[in-house]
Order: sequence, then structure tokens, then C-alpha cells
Amino acid sequence: MKSDNKLKNKDLLSIADLEKEEIDLIFTVTKDLKKDKNQKLLPGKILAMIFQKLSTRTRVSFEAGISQLGGNAIFLSSKEIQLKRGETVEDTARVLSRYVDGIVLRTYEHKEVVRLASAATVPVINGLTDLLHPCQVLSDLYTILEKKGKLGGLKVVFLGDGGNNLSHSWLFGAARTGMNLVISSPSPYWPDKKLMSQAKAIVEKQGAGSIEIDQNAARAVAMADVIYTDVWTSMGQEQEQEERKKIFQKYQVNSELMSKAKSDAIFMHCLPAHRNEEVTDDVLDGKQSVVLDEAENRLHVQKAIMYLLMG
Ligand code: CP
Ligand code: NVA
Repeated sequence: MKSDNKLKNKDLLSIADLEKEEIDLIFTVTKDLKKDKNQKLLPGKILAMIFQKLSTRTRVSFEAGISQLGGNAIFLSSKEIQLKRGETVEDTARVLSRYVDGIVLRTYEHKEVVRLASAATVPVINGLTDLLHPCQVLSDLYTILEKKGKLGGLKVVFLGDGGNNLSHSWLFGAARTGMNLVISSPSPYWPDKKLMSQAKAIVEKQGAGSIEIDQNAARAVAMADVIYTDVWTSMGQEQEQEERKKIFQKYQVNSELMSKAKSDAIFMHCLPAHRNEEVTDDVLDGKQSVVLDEAENRLHVQKAIMYLLMG
């Protein structure tokens, strides 16, 4: 498993940086780790986790994951470390690299994780920035693979805020795996233009999959295999909440919208959800919803990532 591991000592900041074969390798290891969760593949390894935003799933799945692998996590709330008093990201990276074997960062500006990774001598994992959330979408892709048996050729529709960290990561998740992605969102909230062209270039190079935007939610979900949504107001945008509730109302995933997709379509949401805003209770708790499997797979996929990067 390790001999052809090109991920060793690398960072994981964006799915754009992963080759298709590397994603396949992550999923092969994930499957094995999910079958037997007590394989101590990282004995004594230490993971530092710097979190500048709140988290339930990312924090707990990384902490539980490194423990199951035989290592330890050190959780560093940004309020309690010297970063808060102005120590630079680079100095923090260089010092932590002398103590630990890997660093997870959850922060606001994406450039912070890029700076951390450039200065650190141990692997850095993006635990969510305003721009991207790669570990989430890798776990989503693994969940789809479990449910549908394949990724290439499936149609996934992302509804709501087309310019957030999840929709952006979906651009690369779909592009790398040959899925047909439709982002259904009002025009001021379309994806970042640079990321969109980067993702389209990957699709072209690989010769499979597609990326489209369709402002009409009902039309977008026709023949969809996967319906995906996320909160309309991401962390850091709280002051826009009321305005966003009005703007995105047409993109709410409810049973009427679900009925326009394929009858065996699955519903996905990274969670936490704002119930009865972007998704109604009946859909979130309904039989097409796979949100808890998706959340569980954060654990297994991130264990595989840690093993491949830090092992
Ligand atoms: N999906 C996700 O990243 O959840 P948390 O914000 O709880 O970590
Ligand atoms: N887009 C959401 C994802 C939370 C996991 C946010 O950034 O708040």
C-alpha cells in the first residue's frame, strides 16, 4: 500500500492538487480502515489542530481518527495560542513542525493555510477555509461511491450558495472524478471565476465530466443522481443572514424539488444544517438522505488521508 504512495509528506489544501489516482488511493485505504477501525498505523504520531472557527465534525473526526490510528491530537483554539497576539503564521508553522507530525488548520482566509503549508516541514491539512473544504468533499465522494458504486458519469447538483467553500471544492471533486456537476445558484453567488476555469481545465484535460451553472433549480435537478446543499450563510457571513434567506429561498431543497430528480437520487448536506431553510426536515430526515453516513465517512476518509500523508 505504501510503496506507490505519492502523497507521503505532501499537504492537502485543495482537491485540485490531487491526481485521480491519488483520490483512488485515498479511497482504497479508506475502505480498508473502515472495515477494521483499530489498525494502529500511526503509532506515536502527533497532530496539531489549529481552529479559528467553530467545528463539531471536523474536530471530533480528526481527534477520534488519530487516536484510533495510535497517535494523539493537540487541539489549539486560536484564542489560546500566540497567533492571537500577532505571532506570524510562518513562525507558528516552523515551531510546530519541531513538535508534531502534521497540522490541521481551520481558518478564514485561504492564504493563511497556504502560508502555513509553505513554512511547515510537516504535512498541512486544510480543515476548512472561506474558499475550500477539501476533506468534506472527499468524504462526500467516498459516500457516493459507497451508495452508487461509481462516480464518473453521475450527475450531482449543488443548490444554494455557489460561491462558498463547499461549492468550490465540489468544482474540483467533480472535475477530478469525471462527474457532471451543476451549480444552481443566483448569479451574484456563482463560483469564483478563477477556480471555475481551473476546474474546467481539469475536466478538459481528463476528457470526462462537466461543470455547468443553471439558475433554475427545478430544471437543474432533472435526472440528478445526487442533490447537495449547504447553509446559505457560512461562518463569517452572519451579518448577511437575513438578506441571504430571501435571496436563496428559491433554492430550498424540499420534497417537491426532490421529486424532480431521479427516483433513486440521494440527498447530501455537509452539516450543520439550518433546518427548514436550505433543506426541509422531511428531506433531511427522509429515506433519500445520507447525511449521517456522509458525516461518519469524515472519520474514515481523514484517517486514510493522515496515514498517507503522515505515515
Ligand atoms: N461539515 C463540517 O465540516 O462540520 P463542522 O463545521 O462541524 O466541522
Ligand atoms: N459553508 C459552511 C460549511 C460548514 C461546514 C461554512 O463555511 O460555514
